[in-house]
Amino acid sequence: MPKKVLVTEPIVDSVINKLKAHFSVDVGQRGDYNSEEALIRDIPQYHAILPMLSNPITSEVLKAGERLQIVANHAVGYNNIDVDAAHKENIYVANTPDVLTDSCAEFTIGLILAVSRRLFEAQRYLLDGKFDGWEPLGFLGKELQRSTLGIVGMGRIGQAVAQRAKAFGMDIIYHNRSRLAPETENTFDASYRADIERLAEEADILTLHCPLTDETKHLVDKEVLSLLGEKAILVNTSRGPVVDEKALAEALHDGTIGGAALDVFEEEPNVHPRLLAAPNCLLTPHIASASQETREAIGMLAAEAIIGILEGQDPNKIPNLIQP
Ligand code: GLV
Ligand code: GLV
Repeated sequence: MPKKVLVTEPIVDSVINKLKAHFSVDVGQRGDYNSEEALIRDIPQYHAILPMLSNPITSEVLKAGERLQIVANHAVGYNNIDVDAAHKENIYVANTPDVLTDSCAEFTIGLILAVSRRLFEAQRYLLDGKFDGWEPLGFLGKELQRSTLGIVGMGRIGQAVAQRAKAFGMDIIYHNRSRLAPETENTFDASYRADIERLAEEADILTLHCPLTDETKHLVDKEVLSLLGEKAILVNTSRGPVVDEKALAEALHDGTIGGAALDVFEEEPNVHPRLLAAPNCLLTPHIASASQETREAIGMLAAEAIIGILEGQDPNKIPNLIQP
């Protein structure tokens, strides 16, 4: 009997076909496994699961997975998985680092440009039929050249953003759990700030690339927003709860900060209603990694980890397993 794999939602065909060459594969419909209940009901029959980050892989789900050997998340962030509980049950956990770095960094730069130059407001103005000829004072934005970019989380994605921002002539400051090696800092001319408050005070644009943990929940709160200041822009492509969304909505409405671009939200897929109506706020539906190339690479990396574990490869040779 071939081993059984559950892919919780349709993903690119090439990945499903790769898995099918080795295993019996079931593919759920969109949203089928967004509840713990559905996962607990179906998980006992599977040897591996390839979940989306909208699927809660809790300790109860893992306990119910009596045959489960690996959870291979279709994402780099894995805050939807209780990793400690998985390791207690001797279940491997994999994520998809590296393959989405460029896609997310490009998208982040796109958001920064779009908000700085007010692209979406301007498009709406035109579509609303308000464009009545070139205006010397219309839609004045701010250039990136000589602006200061504050990067929170200087991992792979943060560094890829820094590399691109440097090409735009931005000054780069960053905050990270641990300071980078001097050679790495020099690559980006990036200078370290020991706390997020200092970073916010100096940054024209603050962009978030840290994982969601107990320490980073609401890292960007009312105080940080007020330090950012009335001209500054906040960009979040990391995880929604890193920002206190209610405080952000207020800060946009009362002009405490100048603008924001958000690809992630505290209670996805719900967006705080005050954010929907906030000025100079660009909202996208969690698509930073959504390039054709990257979504295929994400799926392949997850599939390879599943094949490796279910076929008894040395786990040390599987690069994307989360270490206990
Ligand atoms: C997307 O949000 C990811 O973590 O891959
Ligand atoms: C982690 O999120 C990274 O930087 O790849």
